[in-house]
Amino acid sequence: MEEVTNEQAEFWSNVADKYDRVVDLQIGGKTRSMVRERVAREGHLGRLVEFGCGTGFYTEILAHKADTLLATDIAPGMLDVARQRVNAPNITFRAEDCQRTSLTDGAFDTAFISLVMHFTLPDQTLAEMHRILRPGGTLILVNLDPQVLKGVMRIRSLLRIIFQGLVGYRIKPPRGFGRNVLTEARLRELLGGSGFRVGSSEVIRDPSRSSNIPVEYVRATRA
Ligand SMILES: C[S@@+](CC[C@H](N)C(=O)[O-])C[C@H]1O[C@@H](n2cnc3c(N)ncnc32)[C@H](O)[C@@H]1O
Repeated sequence: MEEVTNEQAEFWSNVADKYDRVVDLQIGGKTRSMVRERVAREGHLGRLVEFGCGTGFYTEILAHKADTLLATDIAPGMLDVARQRVNAPNITFRAEDCQRTSLTDGAFDTAFISLVMHFTLPDQTLAEMHRILRPGGTLILVNLDPQVLKGVMRIRSLLRIIFQGLVGYRIKPPRGFGRNVLTEARLRELLGGSGFRVGSSEVIRDPSRSSNIPVEYVRATRA
């Protein structure tokens, strides 16, 4: 377990400067921008923590919605890129593993986690989200879901993700990389079992190609 986590940190640090270009080729060039537009429609998020902030693609808009934002990632290389990209007085950056953080119980009003769950043990990550959110706090989760696509399109989307990843990063991913992809139904089940109540789940998909993988934008409340 520890070993896999270290491999993840090393892999993501090594590809940090390529990530934004590669992920857009993998999942559709507008997908994350569409998610960012959805984040922009959020209300006040209070004391906010972001997990797996990566290159900081969402960090600035999140900071606008927050009193304070703790932006975290397991990979120091990703945090370096994010620090260069985003500068706001209410942001602190810190290395954290979202499955097992150093954060205090109930310390946050909102947690945001995008495109990270499938690289973790989801039940452990959700248990940690539950621990660090205050009762009634909000979890906003962006989840890849290939199951929304049918037949050939689903296969094509997965092949594109693998192909663009291999060609774009040119380094071997860690063992079991991204193996814990969750369908929406499974995610809902896990959220319920981890003490969350799902308030809404919206499918966001870049329509420019029929093989662009959809993502779900899920808002859940810590019971
Ligand atoms: C696919 S990128 C997503 C980045 C960004 N959130 C986005 O949506 O574009 C996955 C990110 O999660 C980070 N990550 C992977 N495993 C993690 C873990 N256990 N805890 C925290 N971050 C993790 C990686 O370092 C990487 O920055």
